[in-house]
Amino acid sequence: MNLDGKTTVVTGAANGIGAALARRFHAAGARVVVADRDAKNLQAIEAELNAIRADSAFAVVADIGSEQGNVALIDAARAKFGFIDLFYANAGVGMGTDLESTDEETWETAMNINLHSHRWAAKHLMGEWLAAGEGYFCSTASAAGLLSQIGSGPYSVTKHGAVAFAEWLSITYGDRGVRVTTLCPQGVNTNMLNPPDAKGDVANSGGGAVKASGAVLEPSEVADIVYQTILDERFLVMPHPEVHTYEKRKVDDRDRWLSGMRRLQARVSG
Ligand SMILES: NC(=O)c1ccc[n+]([C@@H]2O[C@H](COP(=O)([O-])OP(=O)(O)OC[C@H]3O[C@@H](n4cnc5c(N)ncnc54)[C@H](O)[C@@H]3O)[C@@H](O)[C@H]2O)c1
Repeated sequence: MNLDGKTTVVTGAANGIGAALARRFHAAGARVVVADRDAKNLQAIEAELNAIRADSAFAVVADIGSEQGNVALIDAARAKFGFIDLFYANAGVGMGTDLESTDEETWETAMNINLHSHRWAAKHLMGEWLAAGEGYFCSTASAAGLLSQIGSGPYSVTKHGAVAFAEWLSITYGDRGVRVTTLCPQGVNTNMLNPPDAKGDVANSGGGAVKASGAVLEPSEVADIVYQTILDERFLVMPHPEVHTYEKRKVDDRDRWLSGMRRLQARVSG
């Protein structure tokens, strides 16, 4: 899809990968609705983009961790710019560790933000897209959705769910004009990988493993690759080519792959 003149929505757009995606789509000529719960940084992105092209960006402070939050965002985006050509569910959290230390609330929050938000958004976009015979749904999952996340059950499970949902969406609606792309990066240089207030989350428990497994890319590099994939209308964005090698090893021999992952876990936690 050529994004010039199109209306796009990007969640988690106040920081990191989402901010880079918003800038990239905007540079391609798109109108961009930027959404996040971080109002301060969100408004700065909106002002930055509108200074480049008047009335081309619109900030919606939203919590996409509930169905109502997604509905309110979609309604606000449509009221401002009309038909949503492309919706990008990027917001995510790196919450939770092992079974002993992760409470129910943390599991539920991770499920809502990393997985159910994609479903809630798609649910409220699909009617209009099917009527129009076109629409583009993008999501940020993770390499953890293809492999696993050392140290975090909730992150591994929700990101696998995000990949599965994107695949299912493409299978179910692809022949009715709905295109789907999902992003599965390893390390990207954002607050999630390098949190300013390091707490016991994915970054702490698994960030070492992520950094040990390959290059850490800049958000703008990832956004460029996503943009090219959207132009080509391909499904998977895998900015770290080594992930493909790891995935092939996993498919070829799961027991051997699991042993290797246990060794990596021992190395980063010891
Ligand atoms: N950084 C990495 O190494 C890496 C690797 C693989 C996948 N990812 C994924 O990339 C996506 C973007 O993360 P990032 O690395 O840019 O981190 P980030 O922390 O810089 O950005 C995440 C953004 O999502 C927003 N957000 C979180 N929960 C929200 C909610 N309920 N409602 C609205 N906004 C919310 C945050 O405020 C933040 O602006 C996430 O889905 C993450 O899981 C990141």
